[in-house]
Amino acid sequence: MKNIVVVDDEQYICNIIMEALGEFPDFAVHKFTAPQEAAAFISENSVDLVLTDLVMGNFSGEKILDAALANHPDAVVILMTGYPTVKTAISVLRRGGYDYLIKPFKLEDLKATIQRGLEHQQIKRENVELHSQLELMKVTDAMTSGMKLQPLLELIVQTAASVLPQSAASILLRNQTNREFTPACRSASNHDPAVVGFLDGDMGKCTVDFRTAVPGIVNEELVIDNKPHKCSYVAYPLISRGGMVGFLNVVYTDRFNHIKPGQLRLLSLLASTAASAVESSNQDSNLHKSYMQTIRSLANAIEARDRYTAGHTDRVYRIARVIARKMGWNSTRMARLRTGCLLHDIGKIGVPDSILNKPGQLTEFERNIMKKHPELGVRILGGIPFLRPIMPYIIAHHEKYDGTGYPHALKGEGIPIEGRLLAVVDTFDAILSDRPYRPGGDPQYAQEELVRNKGTQFDPLIVDLFLEAYHDGSINSNIIYGRAGLNLQMLNSV
Ligand SMILES: [Fe+2]
Repeated sequence: MKNIVVVDDEQYICNIIMEALGEFPDFAVHKFTAPQEAAAFISENSVDLVLTDLVMGNFSGEKILDAALANHPDAVVILMTGYPTVKTAISVLRRGGYDYLIKPFKLEDLKATIQRGLEHQQIKRENVELHSQLELMKVTDAMTSGMKLQPLLELIVQTAASVLPQSAASILLRNQTNREFTPACRSASNHDPAVVGFLDGDMGKCTVDFRTAVPGIVNEELVIDNKPHKCSYVAYPLISRGGMVGFLNVVYTDRFNHIKPGQLRLLSLLASTAASAVESSNQDSNLHKSYMQTIRSLANAIEARDRYTAGHTDRVYRIARVIARKMGWNSTRMARLRTGCLLHDIGKIGVPDSILNKPGQLTEFERNIMKKHPELGVRILGGIPFLRPIMPYIIAHHEKYDGTGYPHALKGEGIPIEGRLLAVVDTFDAILSDRPYRPGGDPQYAQEELVRNKGTQFDPLIVDLFLEAYHDGSINSNIIYGRAGLNLQMLNSV
């Protein structure tokens, strides 16, 4: 049903128009001869089209035009005037009027203009729906392109809020351990406290069947800024194969309309996208935990087997992070550094005990087997997607700056910075460590070794940063010899 408002201070014109529009069964026509009453009606009721006289005593039809568009932005407003001027026409159209009719007009012309206006309105409304569907496609694209969970949920919430004007949305997620719901994100709003409370998790308004994806919907009146608003509360359970993982909540506070079925369909698609994203992330997270437990066991196994290098990886990390900080690495790189240091020798798991723990010097043959450990490490861990960023630590920590290292004889800047950093620190710690065939050296001697091999074995920049840290005290005996305050639990964050 279309709500049509007719405003003219001449009763007989109103009557003629009412009679002409009476033949349209889906028009609810409201006529006013007092323009103030028309303006009041427009501000408090849903209106699709307004037909108004331009001059009604001291009251300008342009005020009706302004009131109609302020309350109903997509309303069609047609002005009628017996005194047409170019200036008037321009003014009406600039204010957003759809058209104007010159009195006296034929009723056929009036009906044709109204129908054209309503068709124009329909196209605009369909365009809005199309725009929402495009927004939905952006969400789908983001999901398939591998966007991380939090930004994806934020995008879903913003899209849900943009599907409907005057609405706000939030996503609550269920904690996998304690089963409680906590807000993951909420669209910005300065809504009524009742609205904000609902978005943040006060779901008492909606009764939701947790076993289905059917949303709970409550329609009620809410007074905002002293004006009554029709308010729809919608709570969509996010259902994945593993059960309910959260809620998409939407509050729609239109002054005239409750939420419509087409809008609910769009929101439903957003809710199922959010549920899939959460499920996929949970699976990744479980897989990640399971991988890390396995790797932790492997790393522990290495430390346990190589009795001469126990604690080596912890010490290497403690020293390396001092230099990494001097290079200004961000938190992501620092987390990778930690895992890289702890796993860099993982390939030694494939080196026989007889070589790994040989009390004397290695033969050429044995040394060649030992040299396989970087490539072996990559073969063990390289297939795990989230460990790929730490591969440079594993593969490149025995490369030398002058190109005489292994396994690829990379040279200078061609060696990943992770490998160049680890080469310096790994060697420093190796010199300090006791071996069955020699006692460990002191830090001063180890430092001199770094300087002696600066530019040949080691990147000069890294050696300089090491010396700077050594002299300013940030690499000190606590760092070098301190009890390992770190452990393999730290593998959690790559
Ligand atoms: Fe190594």
